[in-house]
Amino acid sequence: MEKLIGLKKIKTAVFISGTGSNLKNLIKFAKIKKTPISINLVISNTHKAKGLKYADQSNIKKKIFNFHNISNAEKKILTLLKKEKIKFICLAGFMKILSSNFIKKFGGKIINIHPSLLPKYKGLNTHIRAIANKDKFAGCTIHYVTAKLDSGKIIIQKKITVAAKDNPTSLAKKVLKQEHKFYPAAIIKIFN
Ligand code: GAR
Repeated sequence: MEKLIGLKKIKTAVFISGTGSNLKNLIKFAKIKKTPISINLVISNTHKAKGLKYADQSNIKKKIFNFHNISNAEKKILTLLKKEKIKFICLAGFMKILSSNFIKKFGGKIINIHPSLLPKYKGLNTHIRAIANKDKFAGCTIHYVTAKLDSGKIIIQKKITVAAKDNPTSLAKKVLKQEHKFYPAAIIKIFN
C-alpha cells in the first residue's frame, strides 16, 4: 500500500489494441474526485484500435507504434513515457507482450486486466476455453505485469457464475461488466 503524495495525480498511460471499453471506463474513473490517477497518454500497436476514439474525445494524447520490430517500438515508447513523465501503465486489452527489458527500464508500475480467473487460462480465448470445459465459474483478474505472461502478483480477482445457457459471447459480456467495476477498484487498492 502506498500513500498519495499530496493531491498530485499519478500520470498514467493506457495501452490498448481493440474496442477500448476498459479505456473508456478508466478515462471516466480518472475524472472522479477520489481517483489517484490522471490519464495522460494512450498507446496502441494498431491504428485499427476502435478505442483510440476515446482518447480523441477526451483530448488525451495518443500514439500508435508498429510492433513489427518489438525492441524498436519499445525503445520509442520508453522515450515517450519519459517525456510525458508517465509513472504508471494500465494495459487494457493490449495484445502485445512487453519484454522484461521494457518492464525493467520503465521502472514504474505496470498492471494488466485479464478475462479469466488466473492462473487459469493465461493467454487468448479464455471464454471459449471456459465454456468448452463446462466451467462453473469465470471472472477477471487485475495483476502486476512481469516478464512471464499473465503471471504477476494478483491485485484483485472477481469470480462470477457461468450460467448453463452461457456461450463465449454472453460470458465475455458478463465478465467485461465486472472488469469495468474492478479495474478502478484495483487502482484504488494500489495507491490508497
Ligand atoms: C478485455 O476483456 C480484456 O480483459 C482482454 O481484452 C478485452 C479488451 O476489451 N484482455 C486480454 O485478453 C489480455 N490478454 P476492451 O478493448 O473493450 O477493453
